[in-house]
Amino acid sequence: MTLRILQLTDCHLFVDPKAELKQICTRDRLERVLATLPPEFDRVDRLIITGDLTHDDLPETYGAVRSLFDSWWPRVRLVPGNHDVRDGLYLHCGDRVERVAERIVFRETLGNWKLIGLDSHWPGEVRGELGTAQLEWLDGELSAGASTPTALFLHHPPILAGSAWMNEVGLVDREAFWSVIEPHPQVRVICAGHVHHELTTYRHGVLVLTTPSTGVQFVPESEQFQIDVAEPGYRILELEEDGTVRTRVVRVSLYA
Ligand SMILES: [Fe+2]
Repeated sequence: MTLRILQLTDCHLFVDPKAELKQICTRDRLERVLATLPPEFDRVDRLIITGDLTHDDLPETYGAVRSLFDSWWPRVRLVPGNHDVRDGLYLHCGDRVERVAERIVFRETLGNWKLIGLDSHWPGEVRGELGTAQLEWLDGELSAGASTPTALFLHHPPILAGSAWMNEVGLVDREAFWSVIEPHPQVRVICAGHVHHELTTYRHGVLVLTTPSTGVQFVPESEQFQIDVAEPGYRILELEEDGTVRTRVVRVSLYA
């Protein structure tokens, strides 16, 4: 059985449905993305949202998140990003996640694959951190499933993503993360957000991906922060029984 996973990231929603981020209404853009998903996506196995669900630090904004994804809800999994608030996320979306080592994560075996979501939120920081306790938990999960192809999802990419300014606000303990991953070659793919653009690379034979935001886009490979005029987007992953990964990013036209 091929697993089909839709990844959305960096929605940056506000409780006010008309609020804008960098002169872009993030709610309108997310609704546009969801409205343009092809009908065959009804059969997608999971919708995984890799953080920055909200932008205004208000717990009630997670109620809006929940209602926007209502028809998807049983298939939704999510992790927090730097802009999220753990308590608000857990209050409204706690049935889609679990708390481990004071973090909000998910894990499940689906078909021939294991899916693990990690929490890189560091309160008060744009940078991300996984922390020793969560990395020990991850090591235990990977040790228990050594023969199961595994996909990891987290907000901050565990690599330098090419932009000088973005590298300053990346995952601070990425080398500790890789020292956990290296002995576990069943990890096939790592999907992240945070950088608001598409990126594909490999490290230690693992496919590492970032995905465009459903709202505001950033210019890749830039010295300083710049908004990109690129359209919003999402990623589709097809995970085969033998551990093969196929993936592509889809950009969404803003015009009907
Ligand atoms: Fe973001």
